[in-house]
Amino acid sequence: MVEPVASEVKVFTDLDEMSLGVAGDVTKVIGKAVSERGRFTIALSGGRTPRLLYEQLAARFVREIRWDAVHIFWGDERYVPVDHPDSNFAMANSSLISRVPVPYENVHRIPTESESPEKAADVYEQLLRDYFKSYGGEEDTYTFDVVLLGIGEDGHTASLFPGSPALREKERWVLPVLSPPLFSPRRRITLTLPALNSARLAFIIASGVEKREIVTSILSDPVESRPRYPAAMISPCDRLVWYVDRDAFGESHGMDSTGN
Ligand code: 6PG
Repeated sequence: MVEPVASEVKVFTDLDEMSLGVAGDVTKVIGKAVSERGRFTIALSGGRTPRLLYEQLAARFVREIRWDAVHIFWGDERYVPVDHPDSNFAMANSSLISRVPVPYENVHRIPTESESPEKAADVYEQLLRDYFKSYGGEEDTYTFDVVLLGIGEDGHTASLFPGSPALREKERWVLPVLSPPLFSPRRRITLTLPALNSARLAFIIASGVEKREIVTSILSDPVESRPRYPAAMISPCDRLVWYVDRDAFGESHGMDSTGN
């Protein structure tokens, strides 16, 4: 069994400080990727938590980033129109994309205008396969430079939910899924573990006391958590970094604030 890549944990006072920290680290990774490979690819997270960090990237780091070399993808999407209030694209567009000079052709959203989630997943799968074949060539095993992921209170990440058959997928990079009733909209498209774990870096972000139990469970015993929680199954090629605020981190699992 492949040992999970070591986790780093960065703890911040609150969501504001965490968002600034993530945005600063993403900016550094962009600079390194562009200087080494001429391009940077990121799969964005949906949900509420990343909005502030997207706004920080657009406000505080806009001039440090070579936007023409940045390519934006999504880790998952709800099967809703692009201007729907539940759309992950719409959230990223309003908080980041519409505020920075990233070329239109560098924004690769999940095509929810397709006639079904199945079709949208097929189209996105082909888009990713074609892109990464052209980007890294056949021999390149990597997908994204960074996958940015949130975590639900049940331990889901992207739209990979506990017990989902999608967690057993070994080949496909993109699947249509139905989320549990608690998480609407239910019809979704998600990247799979093969796609997410072929990334170089994974940044998992968690904020708020409602995430403390799941964050504590996973960070206290990542190996034990792996079979139960999709967020614990995230194991990228190079580095996994957890970004948590004090409310989500708690104090109980004996790790100091640098996660050691
Ligand atoms: C989505 C996200 C999902 C999200 C978590 C946390 O499409 O909803 O990809 O995985 O990151 O549900 O959401 P919050 O940040 O809103 O708590």
